[in-house]
Amino acid sequence: MTHPVLPTAPLGTDGPLVGVQGLGCMGMSEFYGPTDSGEALATLDAALEAGVTLFDTADMYGSGRNEEFIGPFVRANRDRVVIATKFAIERDENDPTKRAVRNDPAYIRTAVEGSLRRLGVDVIDLYYMHRRNPEVPLAESVGAMADLVRAGKVRQLGLSEVTGAELREAHAVHPIAAVQSEWSVFARDVERSAVPTAAELGVAFVPYSPLGRGFLTGAFQDAGTLAADDFRRTHPRYTGENAAANGELLAPLREIAAAHDATLAQVALAWVQQRAQVHKLTVVPIPGTRKRSRLAENTGAVALRLSAEELALLEPLAGRVAGDRYADMSNTSVGRE
Ligand SMILES: NC(=O)c1ccc[n+]([C@@H]2O[C@H](COP(=O)([O-])OP(=O)(O)OC[C@H]3O[C@@H](n4cnc5c(N)ncnc54)[C@H](OP(=O)(O)O)[C@@H]3O)[C@@H](O)[C@H]2O)c1
Repeated sequence: MTHPVLPTAPLGTDGPLVGVQGLGCMGMSEFYGPTDSGEALATLDAALEAGVTLFDTADMYGSGRNEEFIGPFVRANRDRVVIATKFAIERDENDPTKRAVRNDPAYIRTAVEGSLRRLGVDVIDLYYMHRRNPEVPLAESVGAMADLVRAGKVRQLGLSEVTGAELREAHAVHPIAAVQSEWSVFARDVERSAVPTAAELGVAFVPYSPLGRGFLTGAFQDAGTLAADDFRRTHPRYTGENAAANGELLAPLREIAAAHDATLAQVALAWVQQRAQVHKLTVVPIPGTRKRSRLAENTGAVALRLSAEELALLEPLAGRVAGDRYADMSNTSVGRE
């Protein structure tokens, strides 16, 4: 199933129009095993060709290397690319597993300069707070982000892994264009508060890991078999007994995919788009891939329409998934709900 050029959707009430599917670039530099750089760069070009315009990175992906990697592509296509990056997760150069969550204004002012430099651009189209540190008043952090808009360094603001209440509070300080949080047929906690609040406020939703980090596609069955440094080994739901049980839950996706001559990835992506319609909000999922063939497959999902019966088959899955989204949920919106 393929689609010539993606339709577009607005990113928040004042934001730009973007292709209804974006591209997650994280795996190009870290987390999901070795990357073929040439193929990854070709995938960026192919995405733009297919109508993907929202490209997603963060300063912490590869400790800055991901922003540097996609920078030349962003600059070469500056008028067409909507570049989104993020701050807040401070890493320790000596220990890649160590993280601190920084939301203080001084940190934000320094972080943005680093992202602008590594991307090699004058302005970031969408700047997200990657994680929330509840010890810093949200109004202070969003106030500092709003200063960046006024200074012309950032065009739109976004938040990642926030609760509905946090989104509402932030939006009162400065309009928020997009919330980026995990949302897939296996991960639906956002539907409790962040999604309804975003719908009410006219904020776009950018579902990350819409393919369950690849698990929903059947590409791997147990993350324990992946490379020693593959980040998915740390996710409780993708290893051992949990992964085996969760693999069984893919049966309805397989059935639906077969009926449409589609793939599991396409069913998972079509589900997100159609679920957003139920909540009456704009979504721009950002499946991550480093391969042109998968990019074509994923963008092809916009042509797939699931029936009410098929959606009903998928409805109970998230409630049956064994294991949390992260080993430590305290930094996610769920941890603060
Ligand atoms: N805000 C946050 O906290 C946060 C957290 C995680 C991710 N993100 C963002 O969201 C983006 C997407 O999330 P994600 O990369 O974690 O997960 P994802 O999009 O659910 O899945 C990505 C994985 O699936 C594989 N894949 C992609 N398309 C496929 C297909 N059609 N068939 C089989 N396998 C396929 C990819 O491998 P290949 O690359 O080898 O194709 C990769 O291993 C990231 O790139 C990042 O920009 C944000």
